[in-house]
Parts: sequence; C-alpha cells; structure tokens
Amino acid sequence: MIILKKGDERVAKIINKKNINTNAAYRISLFTYPYSENGRYLIKNTLTHEVAELTEAEWTAFQQLKNAPADYDYIADNGLQQLVLSRYIVEMEHDDIKQYKNVVYILKTMAKTNHGYSSYIIWPTTSCNARCIYCFEEGFKSRTMTTQTADRVIEFIKETKQGGKIKIKWFGGEPLLGHKMISYMCRKLKESDIEFESTMITNCSLVTEKLAKEISELWNMKRIQVSLDGDKADYEKRKCYCDTKKYNYDTAISGIRFLASEGIKVNLRCNVDNNNIDGLAKFADQMKADLGDIQNIDMYLSPLYGVDECRPSEELFKKMAVLTDYFASIGVIKGGFFNKDSKFKVNYCMADSMDKTIGIGPDGELNNCDSLLEQNVWGNIFDGVTNQTKFNELYSSAEIDERCKKCCFLPQCTPFYRQRCPLYISECYEYKCMRTEYSLHTLLKGEPETEDDN
Ligand SMILES: C[S@@+](CC[C@H](N)C(=O)[O-])C[C@H]1O[C@@H](n2cnc3c(N)ncnc32)[C@H](O)[C@@H]1O
Repeated sequence: MIILKKGDERVAKIINKKNINTNAAYRISLFTYPYSENGRYLIKNTLTHEVAELTEAEWTAFQQLKNAPADYDYIADNGLQQLVLSRYIVEMEHDDIKQYKNVVYILKTMAKTNHGYSSYIIWPTTSCNARCIYCFEEGFKSRTMTTQTADRVIEFIKETKQGGKIKIKWFGGEPLLGHKMISYMCRKLKESDIEFESTMITNCSLVTEKLAKEISELWNMKRIQVSLDGDKADYEKRKCYCDTKKYNYDTAISGIRFLASEGIKVNLRCNVDNNNIDGLAKFADQMKADLGDIQNIDMYLSPLYGVDECRPSEELFKKMAVLTDYFASIGVIKGGFFNKDSKFKVNYCMADSMDKTIGIGPDGELNNCDSLLEQNVWGNIFDGVTNQTKFNELYSSAEIDERCKKCCFLPQCTPFYRQRCPLYISECYEYKCMRTEYSLHTLLKGEPETEDDN
C-alpha cells in the first residue's frame, strides 16, 4: 500500500493505531470507500480523508473481507497490517459511530478557545427581483431592514463577536436590493474599528462598476457566489426576473465582470436538474466566451433540493461528473470543486455551529440556517431568546439518523441532514458517491487538489 493523498493529521492522531491486536477478528471499516479504475485500486478513509493505493494482490485480499471477517494471520499473510493501523480495516467489535462521535467531540473541545461568534449571516432584505423556479424562499414575505434595526445589528455584533476579525455573509432575498443598508452597516463597522470581511450570495444582476468598487472597498468583499444555471435563454427562463429589461443574463454577466476585476473571487453555482443538464455543455462554451478572459472566476455544479420536478437521480449525477470533466477541460472549472475535502470538518452546516455562526433577518430575528430563515427563528437582537424550546432544540446535538449510521459518508455530512434539515436530498448517498469517485478519478489523473474554502 502507498499513500496517494495524506489525510487530516489531527484525526489520524486520534484514530490511528500504534499496535495491532493479534487476537482479534477483522472487517472493513464503515468509513472505507473502495474505488478502482483501469487496473488501479484505491481506498479512501472518509474520517481521515487519506487515500491509499493498493496492489492488485492487496486489493483482492482486502475485498475478501467483504464476504467474511478474517483473523490476524490473514491480515499478516496478505500484508494488510498498515490498513489496520490506518483504520481502513478494524476489529469486528469496533464501534465506528462511537469513534466518529469521539473525533467530533475532541476536535470541538480543542476549538473552544475563542468565545463569541466568528461569523454572521445578515439578510438586509427578503425582497428579490427574481422568481427562480426552484427557489426554497418562494412565498417569503418581503421585508427590508430599517436603519434602527441596522444600528442594533452593529451593537449586537459588538456585544457578541469573538476577538479579532469576523466574517459577514450578506444573504437575501436579493441582498443587493438592500445595498444602501449594507453600505450603512459596513461604514458603522469601520467607525467602530470592527475588523471584518464579507462574502455574499447574489444573482449579481444589479452590480454597476461604481457599486463593484464600493463592494470591494467598503464591504471588504472577498468572495461571492452567483447562480448561473444555463445559457441566456435557459437562464432567463429559470430566473423569471421581475423586470427583464433591467435585470437579465447580460446584466448578471457584466456584474460578474465588474466584481471579478475588483479582485473579488466569484464562484458561479450552476444548479442542475434533468431540465437543464443536457444544455450545459453548450452553456460552458458560452461561459468561456463571456468570462474566459478574466481571472477570479470559478464554477461548480450543484443539484437542486426540495423541488419534486427537479429531483436529482443517479443518472443526473453521472451526467454531472462527465460535465464537470468537460467544464474543467475547457478551463471553466479551475478549482476542482468535487475535490475539496482534504480536512475533517467539525461542522458541515450553519445549523450545526450555533456557537460560532448566527443569522440575523431584516427585522433583527435570529436564526441558524441560511436556507430556512422563517422556520428557524428563535429570538431577536432586541430581546434575545424568545422561543426557548426552539433554541434548545436547535442547540442540542442532533441524534444520528438510523440510515446515516450505516453510511460511509457520515463523517462528511451534517448530523442535521436527515433529522432536521427539510432540504436534504434522499439521493444524498448516490450524490456523495459521485463526488468521491470524481475526486478519486482526478487524483489518479494526477491533477492537484485544492483546499476547501467554502
Ligand atoms: C435563495 S438565494 C438568495 C440569494 C440571491 N438572491 C441569489 O440568487 O443567489 C440563495 C441560493 O439558494 C440557491 N437555491 C435556491 N433554491 C434552491 C433549491 N431548491 N435547491 C438548491 N439551491 C437553491 C440559489 O441557487 C442561490 O444560490
């Protein structure tokens, strides 16, 4: 066995063994994902993220363990000792779930040195100039932040922030419909000497050259995410902008160009479903023509959730992997978005990191999920906690769902996924298989992996 990709050393230190129990029987760990391609044999440890390559003989011996457990002699005779030490193979009675929980507990405890929030998600408005056909915010009431609430937001941040720099994510509705209020709050943060940097989720259709400068200089914007789901015709069909003369594909593209040329990293999110996937190769070519000349732009494909007509399928995931290769081959995808999993994350969603991240709605309401503003409110910035039951429910750690207890991707998922997240896709296992196999495939091709910055 050789290590093809190093894992997360913090986790390896916690779980790896120094000695092998010669009296135990052995089986494959729940957290081992096997993958083979063109006569090469890989195993990935989804806890440590280490990837190892096996010889054909090791692979055959390893695969035998699927059928029946083996004793130490079998491990030794087939040279599988290192697979036991690195926990690809574990003792029969080993409790994989307990080990995973232990890793989370230890890493969370180690991280608890800096008190206060490090990150705030702020909705300056829930209004939007688009009516995306798949949007989970459909039916949200239109509400916009007042100056009085914005003033209290700044005080709230001062009272609750951790030491040092904080991150602010501007969300909506369409956050840029509230750009004056965002500028107001950024000015106040600067006057108060609060160090911050911003990110934003936007459709980018309202960005002018002047606003792009302000976003970069006053808002300290580092990264934005923009949804772009198809070529001009498809995009406009899916976006359903309220005023198509003012807001359309062309205004979004020019907004992206203005922001990217300010040095802001733009991540284009291409939401895919069975209705648009077949037109996306053509769209990739258009992307290259429209934006290929500028730096700071990257793209990724993402399945939709919660919408019956857009339900993903295994076939869709297969097409996504092929398309990702195509996007990468013409240089539209640069960072390898299916590849970004080299470290164990203690939190995979905002709702699972309540002590570090908090959401503030336009009326100052507090919540813990940027996908579910209205359902998750448990208090507000004026009165603190107003719904103790909801707060306690969200703050308590989620029980791991029975189905997730059998899933090798448990360490790469939020415990809220099935338990409390109504946006989960029931095809999550197939989706994660596709992503994992795509990243192992790129690893075999020898392409460099990038760090996760999302
Ligand atoms: C609700 S929008 C609000 C921010 C902004 N107006 C925008 O268009 O990005 C935030 C993000 O949610 C994503 N989104 C909306 N509905 C979704 C769904 N059903 N499944 C997956 N993503 C969705 C959009 O692609 C967008 O990136």
